[in-house]
Amino acid sequence: VCLLPVPVPSQVPSCISSGSVRLHASNPNLSTAALGTAKEDFCRVANNRKYSLLPTTNNSTDGSHPLVHQASNESRASITESLSEFFDAQEVLLSASSSENEASDDDSYISDNVSDNISMDNFSNETERPNSENGTLLRRRRSCLPSASPNTSNISLWNILKNNIGKDLSKVAMPVQLNEPLNTLQRLCEELEYSELLDRAANTQDPFERMVYVATFAVSGYASSYHRAGGKPFNPVLGETYECDRPDKGLRFIAEQVSHHPPISACHADSKNYIFWQDMRWKNKFWGKSMEIVPVGTTHVILPGFGDHYEWNKVTSCIHNILSGQRWIEHYGEISIRNTSTDICQCKVTFIKAKYWNSSVNEVEGTITDHKGKVIHRLFGKWNEGMYCGDPPSATCIWRANAMPADHEQYYGFTKFAMELNELDPSLKLLLPPTDTRLRLDQRLLEEGNVEAAEEQKQNIEQQQRDRRRVLEENTMTHQPTFFRKSKDDTWVSNNTYWDLRSDPGFAHLDCPVLW
Ligand SMILES: *[C@@H]1O[C@H](CO)[C@@H](O)[C@H](O)[C@H]1NC(C)=O
Ligand SMILES: *[C@@H]1O[C@H](CO)[C@@H](O)[C@H](O)[C@H]1NC(C)=O
Ligand SMILES: *[C@@H]1O[C@H](CO)[C@@H](O)[C@H](O)[C@H]1NC(C)=O
Ligand SMILES: *[C@@H]1O[C@H](CO)[C@@H](O)[C@H](O)[C@H]1NC(C)=O
Ligand SMILES: *[C@@H]1O[C@H](CO)[C@@H](O)[C@H](O)[C@H]1NC(C)=O
Ligand SMILES: *[C@@H]1O[C@H](CO)[C@@H](O)[C@H](O)[C@H]1NC(C)=O
Ligand SMILES: *[C@@H]1O[C@H](CO)[C@@H](O)[C@H](O)[C@H]1NC(C)=O
Ligand SMILES: *[C@@H]1O[C@H](CO)[C@@H](O)[C@H](O)[C@H]1NC(C)=O
Ligand SMILES: *[C@@H]1O[C@H](CO)[C@@H](O)[C@H](O)[C@H]1NC(C)=O
Repeated sequence: VCLLPVPVPSQVPSCISSGSVRLHASNPNLSTAALGTAKEDFCRVANNRKYSLLPTTNNSTDGSHPLVHQASNESRASITESLSEFFDAQEVLLSASSSENEASDDDSYISDNVSDNISMDNFSNETERPNSENGTLLRRRRSCLPSASPNTSNISLWNILKNNIGKDLSKVAMPVQLNEPLNTLQRLCEELEYSELLDRAANTQDPFERMVYVATFAVSGYASSYHRAGGKPFNPVLGETYECDRPDKGLRFIAEQVSHHPPISACHADSKNYIFWQDMRWKNKFWGKSMEIVPVGTTHVILPGFGDHYEWNKVTSCIHNILSGQRWIEHYGEISIRNTSTDICQCKVTFIKAKYWNSSVNEVEGTITDHKGKVIHRLFGKWNEGMYCGDPPSATCIWRANAMPADHEQYYGFTKFAMELNELDPSLKLLLPPTDTRLRLDQRLLEEGNVEAAEEQKQNIEQQQRDRRRVLEENTMTHQPTFFRKSKDDTWVSNNTYWDLRSDPGFAHLDCPVLW
């Protein structure tokens, strides 16, 4: 029997278990058709790990046959390619929210093995934030987007592909309604939503406990992907930048799109407690009904107080039912975290792929070992809910995902932190370089709900980028990133000029590229 692992509607996980814990394995709101599609997809993925566009059944009703029959090798390649263009640089673009997250009476969806004796760490006390203790007046941030997400029910990615078979699909523009009003640079910043885990690590003497917080931080970056329905982030244009100054979190973040082919986004954040940086690009594998997004790149965290330099990879993300049915996202694979200068402490975190006979989804397990391989700490939990340290049934909650805003389904499934990322305060506007994403019109217009104008601007901005690229090519010049440089080991690192230039002389007094 092929049981379908459906995303479990996620309420705020209660770290303190209520005793009665239920796991909902099915959702009444999923149509039978959607169930069929997802099931088929699942079995296929589970049974046939080979990359393939071929469907497994002969009576598929979602129209995937014409694609398969008509696709010559050439158009097959272009479909794959254009989808990777479409999905390029997206770690996580469409998500789970299949369920539309019907609330159930039961608020706790913690899996069965997390039961009674979970102790609440003091850590998730919202009011305890770095830098707020000295009475600095912190800026109020918005708690709502200006406009709800557009209705995309009449847009079919499948129709777009089908109508363009045989054409150079990389030239086919995707409608702006498929985007969410955030771009990939902002999505990288979103991984810092739970940066207090790094602050916590920086204040922990024991190296194995530090690793617990760092590993949990690595997992927490995936939490927000769960609720993202059907939206992909905007692709930044080459040279686009993004800053995020969060005195309330004690961090400053910058990012820049440093390469277009392949698309590479580089970012850097610092705080008194840590330095965080990564450069990311993504390889996509299109399976017909699902798409795997395989990130390439390394995440780095330095805790200067201890001389720790952690490095880790990201796991694979898979969007199921990409062409039809209820889309949902899954992450699977292993994150291996090491301290580059010593092997006294290592960590492996596994995102478990849902199995069709097992209704548990989104589960994560990890071990922290010493140099002899002896397990010092065990971690477990769900990437969309929370992480625990210890052995069930008694374990400590290290982190739990924040509650979602009330109307998040209507607002792109954004968390409060995600909503704040594209906020443009008038005083901030004066300080930003003209390349900052917040000043990008198409994304702003989409955020404001003006879809038609957003579409027009998107085409305009993409055309301008093509024009700039042509000029560079004609003059055999290559693009030079402004705030990042390639280091010896080929990774992109900040050249530490952004914030200095911002305060003196200020971007208003500098020649900046004109991107739109
Ligand atoms: C939580 O706070 C209480 C009182 O403030 C303290 O006694 C306890 O040790 C703290 N627990 C942890 C895990 O920090
Ligand atoms: C959490 O925040 C509340 C409100 O400020 C405070 O009263 C409480 O002591 C805090 N809890 C801990 C354990 O620090
Ligand atoms: C309070 O925090 C702000 C922001 O980090 C800092 O600029 C300021 O110097 C601090 N003030 C004191 C008195 O520590
Ligand atoms: C979206 O539009 C379709 C009709 O095109 C309608 O049936 C559906 O209810 C709308 N959805 C929302 C959330 O408004
Ligand atoms: C979807 O519907 C809106 C109006 O409800 C319309 O403006 C738009 O063109 C439609 N899109 C497609 C792809 O049919
Ligand atoms: C990482 O390496 C540094 C430098 O050798 C060492 O001081 C630190 O304790 C190590 N930390 C961990 C968590 O292994
Ligand atoms: C489902 O998978 C989880 C995690 O791997 C495991 O703990 C659990 O025992 C499995 N349940 C069944 C019924 O196989
Ligand atoms: C759970 O809590 C109960 C009551 O406090 C205690 O008797 C039991 O030993 C605890 N179990 C574990 C595994 O800690
Ligand atoms: C470093 O930053 C400066 C100032 O923005 C810039 O002019 C320079 O090109 C950058 N250096 C490199 C190697 O990218």
